[in-house]
Amino acid sequence: MTTATALATADPAGHVDAGRLLARLDALARHGARADGGVDRPALGAAEIAARADLVAWGRASGLTPYTDGLANLFLRLPGFADAAPVLVGSHIDSQPTGGRFDGTVGVLAALAAVEAIRAAGIRPKRPIEVVAWMNEEACRFAPGMMGSEAYAGLKTVDQILPIKDAAGTTVGEAAAAVLAADRDVPLRPLPGRAHAFVEAHIEQGTVLEAAGVPLGIVTGIQGTRRYRIRVTGEAAHAGTTARSDRRDALMAAMRMIAAVEDLTREAADTLFTVGLFEVKPNAPSVIPAEAFFSIDVRQADDAVLDRLGTAIPETLAAHAGPCSVDVREIAHAPSVAFDEGLRCTLSKAAAALGAPAMDVFSAAGHDARSLARVCPTAMLFIPCRGGVSHHPSEHAEAEHIVLAARVLATTLARLADG
Ligand code: GLV
Ligand code: MN
Ligand code: MN
Repeated sequence: MTTATALATADPAGHVDAGRLLARLDALARHGARADGGVDRPALGAAEIAARADLVAWGRASGLTPYTDGLANLFLRLPGFADAAPVLVGSHIDSQPTGGRFDGTVGVLAALAAVEAIRAAGIRPKRPIEVVAWMNEEACRFAPGMMGSEAYAGLKTVDQILPIKDAAGTTVGEAAAAVLAADRDVPLRPLPGRAHAFVEAHIEQGTVLEAAGVPLGIVTGIQGTRRYRIRVTGEAAHAGTTARSDRRDALMAAMRMIAAVEDLTREAADTLFTVGLFEVKPNAPSVIPAEAFFSIDVRQADDAVLDRLGTAIPETLAAHAGPCSVDVREIAHAPSVAFDEGLRCTLSKAAAALGAPAMDVFSAAGHDARSLARVCPTAMLFIPCRGGVSHHPSEHAEAEHIVLAARVLATTLARLADG
């Protein structure tokens, strides 16, 4: 076995098994596969349970020990020779309903390939290295997202998260219990956890790398976000017999609110505003809508702008309720994050050692790395994403870029685990 002090000569990057990494990407894409080639794999659902079983089996076959916790985060651990906090590397395997095969999954599989490469190179790291698949990054089944990573980082307690329900009324607690029951001999560990450092590889979900023709992005940080759920309550009534002056139309009120908030968010040209979820009740053609329920997702890099919106959005919603009542719940507020400079430098050096061009990029999308950045040195590695298309079945990343990311991770992890 090579000791940690001989890492410079061990070259784990050269031990990444590209064929196995790409075959696993295909294999995981079958769990929750959509007819159009995309992936629909909600957090803690049956497809994720099957994908998780694959990860556990692959990790075990490579000599890694699986662990989990009360929120069904999954860890695959390569032991270190010192009793020290682990270096964490990974991402998530849940997807949006119209997801692609790469968002999250690439980061977990590249991490696994990198740790396997460290083992194959005969390196015995000082610190343990753990591949992680965080529970519920995407927030499409249970909201808000980043649940697993926020609990690991101690930003939320398990008790705050377990009662959260999906649209069918199933709680995180019930769904996580089903996942844990399906595990075979995967020991439970307590939350929060304690990491020495965290690295996450991910598709860029933007076009900066593609436009520059650069295969790797060293991520400088993540823009801030605020997320809301809004319930507008009016009154159901007959569409033909109720005069305009007597109506309490929840849909009309919601439309006024959305238009007004969209206008408000134009104060800074680079603020992004999305209403991705919208439901109306009773949703019958001849009945005036009694209730509208919708989401607001706002993204902005400048925290001062995001802070102003935090005051102005609820005020604007209330001001446009008309004869209806409105309940506004902010479910997430995450300021912008700047990643650790030392760790970014380690990633850059690992890329340079492989002769791979890399450039700084800022992340417009949210990631679990945001949670970990609050408690330990954290950084991200981006790979190009065709046309910037993501959260869509046609999402695509090139095999050579995925393999390159795994190689950079291998070198980076070997260095980190020596520290
Ligand atoms: C993550 O999926 C995000 O919506 O930024
Ligand atoms: Mn993701
Ligand atoms: Mn995503």
